[in-house]
Amino acid sequence: MLDRTVEPSPNQSPAQVGVSADAGMAGVAPDAKLHRRFPTIPFLREGARRNLPRFAFEYMDGGAGEDTGIDRNWSALDAVELIPRYGVSTSLPGTECELLGRRYAAPVGVAPMGSPSLGWPGADQYLARAAQKARVPYVLGTVGGMTIERAGEIAPDVLWFQLYRLAKDEHRLGLDLARRAEAAGAHALVLTLDVPVRTTRPREVHSGITTPFRPDLRMLLGILTSPGWLGAMLKNGQPRFASLRGYAREGAGINEIANFVRGEMRGGFTWEEVARYRERWKRPLAVKGVLHPADAERAVSLGVDGIIVSNHGGRQIDALPAAIDALPAVVSATAGRATVMMDSGVRSGVDVVRALALGASAAFAGKAFLWGLGALGERGPGHVIDLLIAEMRATLGQVGVRSLAELRDVTVRHPGALQL
Ligand SMILES: Cc1cc2nc3c(=O)[nH]c(=O)nc-3n(C[C@H](O)[C@H](O)[C@H](O)COP(=O)(O)O)c2cc1C
Repeated sequence: MLDRTVEPSPNQSPAQVGVSADAGMAGVAPDAKLHRRFPTIPFLREGARRNLPRFAFEYMDGGAGEDTGIDRNWSALDAVELIPRYGVSTSLPGTECELLGRRYAAPVGVAPMGSPSLGWPGADQYLARAAQKARVPYVLGTVGGMTIERAGEIAPDVLWFQLYRLAKDEHRLGLDLARRAEAAGAHALVLTLDVPVRTTRPREVHSGITTPFRPDLRMLLGILTSPGWLGAMLKNGQPRFASLRGYAREGAGINEIANFVRGEMRGGFTWEEVARYRERWKRPLAVKGVLHPADAERAVSLGVDGIIVSNHGGRQIDALPAAIDALPAVVSATAGRATVMMDSGVRSGVDVVRALALGASAAFAGKAFLWGLGALGERGPGHVIDLLIAEMRATLGQVGVRSLAELRDVTVRHPGALQL
């Protein structure tokens, strides 16, 4: 296993988001006490590692295979250099932006996560609340622990909904979930393309996680010695398939529901199916998991509005390219005809700016938000958003742009850019 302990790197220096004399320049100063304990997202990761039962940390943190996909995402982002120009700007630009026709406070968002409650019980509602408060996009996952309707109540201005392929009986479930998402006010529907097969995450397996969730003695011991996680579970109950449980047999227990969900989910969407959803879903439609520019072109030709370049955070298979490396090719293939966004490996506002400078309109994070929950409980997601925005603003100031739009003109060195 690779050692990935916190190594404050130049791009994650606490001074960047400083609450000291530099705070004025950094703009948004995160809560001082919190900032001292967790000055960057990697510190939250270490906090989560300390606080959580082992299986919960392994669930949120582990990747496919040997975790080399995760490492590649990180090192590829680290390798992107922004070449600053000085002498032009004297103030920090704002981070307000428009994404798929809606205004948000910043081009950062919460990526969809299935069963995040395994990482922190009640996770979905805390993530949704923090996103609503900060006015940044929140994508509820198909397999989330909160119903779409509840998400619509908590996050009415920022909700998007992610859908896996639920194709049985002519997509009965998938189409019904999309209908419910629309009724609940979800602004965008995100079809995940990059799970054509189920793969294993060895760290999850080794920590004893099974579907359905059946904690063994070792896991129970872990829960009992992790008071924060235990308290969250007593408050919020066991992880469950909130939006999907209504489709299973009435009175079905958690295990039966889990098996039902497993049986319904199969493979990745075909392009014909994407076209079908395009026809039905009248609001912005995005596809997630694109890495090949030809797939981006195909999506655009079907009228898809948004493309999320992603390798699923390194959770599917180790051999995929880093999303940041695939991003420029996708941006140039779509040539302004779709909103290109990215996720996979984002651990700082510097990373967000790197993605924007390479043509993304927004960057999402997954693991970072769960580390926040693991380290800080319900206050975690808000702290992650604060850090991302503060670091973003400091980076924008450092490279010398006067607006997000000007980022496209920044000179970038990107040694890993995918050449096909
Ligand atoms: C615990 C966990 C569960 C996830 N579940 C889903 C999911 O249900 N659907 C989906 O499209 N992506 C899922 N993802 C992938 C995220 O949406 C996102 O692509 C990824 O986390 C981004 O990489 P990062 O974790 O390095 O930020 C999951 C990620 C994590 C960490």
